[in-house]
Amino acid sequence: MTKDAATNVVPEGVELVYDGKTVELPLVEGSEGERGIDIRKLRAETGLITIDPGYVNTGSCSSAITFIDGEKGILRYRGYPIEELAEHSTFLEVAWLLLNGELPTEAELAEFTTEVTRHTMLHEDFGRFFDFMPKNAHPMPVCAAAVGALSTFYREANTDERVQKAIVRLIAKMPTMAAYSYKHSIGQPRMYPRNDLDYSSNFLYMMFGNPCEAFQADPVFARALDLLLILHADHEQNCSTSTVRMVGSSQASLYASISSGIMALWGPLHGGANQKVIEMLERIAREDGSADRFLNRAKDRDDTTRLMGFGHRVYKNYDPRAAILKTTCKDVIERIGGSSELLDIAMRLEEIALSDEYFVERRLYPNVDFYSGIIYQVLGVPVNMFTVMFALGRLPGWLAQFLELRRDPANRIGRPRQIYTGATKRKYKPVKKR
Ligand code: SDX
Repeated sequence: MTKDAATNVVPEGVELVYDGKTVELPLVEGSEGERGIDIRKLRAETGLITIDPGYVNTGSCSSAITFIDGEKGILRYRGYPIEELAEHSTFLEVAWLLLNGELPTEAELAEFTTEVTRHTMLHEDFGRFFDFMPKNAHPMPVCAAAVGALSTFYREANTDERVQKAIVRLIAKMPTMAAYSYKHSIGQPRMYPRNDLDYSSNFLYMMFGNPCEAFQADPVFARALDLLLILHADHEQNCSTSTVRMVGSSQASLYASISSGIMALWGPLHGGANQKVIEMLERIAREDGSADRFLNRAKDRDDTTRLMGFGHRVYKNYDPRAAILKTTCKDVIERIGGSSELLDIAMRLEEIALSDEYFVERRLYPNVDFYSGIIYQVLGVPVNMFTVMFALGRLPGWLAQFLELRRDPANRIGRPRQIYTGATKRKYKPVKKR
């Protein structure tokens, strides 16, 4: 068994007694004391496989990028608590941290920032790509298609040097593509990126600027956007990241892996939940504002209604990102000097749910999607672009996980087994004589 670099084999393994035989399976332990049974030799020695729908109990890899303790509501990127990064860091610094494992020096961050800034432009032919999209197209498939199409403008990212170049290009160009897609959808001219603006201000400029008047990104809004991107930057082996790894494991290109990750994120149970949360809050506001009535439906087994933005596969405590976003929500709304009916409804839903037996016994808490949409809405981002914003944030995490996979000597193409439950062997009888 090739030992993964980051895990230690615990002296006492586990014994599996099956069919009169005892098989010892190694127990591996990570740097935070998490333990797993290494079943790499299980089938060879017993003929058995494991079954775990949704991989609730199954680890796909060892990783040194992000640590989550769902019981305690802990999230750390490369060992740094999310709360400290949220308060003191910037999105590009966090992107460098995720990609390289250490915080950048001042010179490294300056060079990385310059490199990203210098790659925000898209090839002029690429601009026409968006012109052929329907104006009412959902921006997630447009974004996924654009990332795939981007690979046709550059040589295959099949060497370390070209992968690094592709990483910078994607971090630099995805905001431009997202803004171009939005401008196309509202029939406004595309705004070229500007090198004199920081990452988040540049995105706000490309989204909401227009050639007819000067545009100055509100620094509070730009900081709120940078914080949203930081909070979404990585989250260990979630659905979309596992998709990036699965596609990358076949040695498909980086662009193909990221494009697949974007599509996986689109699902309403995953990144698409932030759009569903706003639609849910608007529906409650439209109908009768009754949070109690809505929650009764969310608890009803015969009703498919769910409290979107609540619950999580790993967090069985408050998602630390949601706690930060709740505060940011209030700051941004205070900034515009207004109030927000949707925020009031969201806070009421949270207040009732956190003391309701149904949610308490299932350990359902607000997750990252519960408050993020309210902030995006205040920034002026259209609801159907909320998951694109999630993708912009998650991009460095996907890229870091792809790199880790690519460098992992234990990596093999992902190919799960199955338990077959279909028809047993039977003779073919043609429907009619030929
Ligand atoms: C993200 O994995 C990640 O890290 C993802 C993410 C990231 O950063 O990448 O954190 C981002 O995807 C956050 C999650 C966004 N999705 C939503 O907010 C959609 C609403 N949440 C649920 O659909 C659900 O909680 C999931 C999908 C998030 C988790 O699903 P699980 O772990 O498979 O749990 P489950 O569906 O089996 O639910 C367990 C029980 C069930 O009830 P019982 O069958 O036990 O009676 O809890 C209930 C569920 O019905 N339940 C909910 C609920 N979430 C779970 N009931 C009402 N409202 C909800 N939101």
